[in-house]
Amino acid sequence: MAGRHALVTGLVAIVGLFYLTSVNGLSCLFCDRAVNITDCLTQKAACKDVDEQCFLDKTILPDLTSVFSAGCRSKQVCALIASAVGKRDSVACAQCCDDPVNNKTLIPCNGYLCNQNPQPAGATCGVCDRVSDPKDCSVDQECQPTEVCKVNTIFSGGVLKYELGCEKKTECDVLLREYKSLHGKPATGRRADHGDLVLCSACCDTLSCNKDQCSEVIKIQKCHNSTICG
Ligand SMILES: *[C@@H]1O[C@H](CO)[C@@H](O)[C@H](O)[C@H]1NC(C)=O
Ligand SMILES: *[C@@H]1O[C@H](CO)[C@@H](O)[C@H](O)[C@H]1NC(C)=O
Ligand SMILES: *[C@@H]1O[C@H](CO)[C@@H](O)[C@H](O)[C@H]1NC(C)=O
Repeated sequence: MAGRHALVTGLVAIVGLFYLTSVNGLSCLFCDRAVNITDCLTQKAACKDVDEQCFLDKTILPDLTSVFSAGCRSKQVCALIASAVGKRDSVACAQCCDDPVNNKTLIPCNGYLCNQNPQPAGATCGVCDRVSDPKDCSVDQECQPTEVCKVNTIFSGGVLKYELGCEKKTECDVLLREYKSLHGKPATGRRADHGDLVLCSACCDTLSCNKDQCSEVIKIQKCHNSTICG
């Protein structure tokens, strides 16, 4: 009985996984001839096909500098290149992966290929003014080293909207202090500069982590200065 239950659970998990990968595809870093791997953190590609994987190519230019290209590539091409690399001097490294996004850094697997370990100077955040769903924000930007990502839920013209962008760490710490003093409730009812009502503000500091519901982001918000929010 227990074995049968485990089998059914396993099947549901596999079918669920297949459904997710075939519908959503894989999320990969995307860039074209970027000088620094951190430049690849601002764009992502959603692979169309279940047959695609994430890739990272490190190409050596004639002047001996190197550039990175990243995105989605078919498994067949990945396999062909894997067997051919080394014979082409200009490609220093060409690798593919299809692991899930790293759940700590939120960086897709191809960020870690070719011995790379991208450490952005500032957080890379979704930056959008008034989207209906934070997940719809498709613009990413690198913030200042003193800043992290922020998402606001605002009540504007009778509907809920989301504002995404960069915010100073100290400002975020003040928000966290308010949240803690209100025993886990976001400080509601503040008026924003433009007269709309801010229902929730939260900050986070992993790759484009602000493309999520404010009420979820605030639960895992970190304190940067313990004098303010410790
Ligand atoms: C991240 O993944 C690891 C291993 O897969 C798991 O143990 C951990 O609970 C995950 N963390 C989060 C925040 O999901
Ligand atoms: C790439 O950029 C990061 C962050 O801006 C910097 O720390 C690193 O030194 C750069 N790497 C190279 C090889 O220029
Ligand atoms: C932390 O916040 C306090 C109070 O605002 C400030 O005086 C102090 O310089 C801050 N510490 C750091 C390390 O930024």
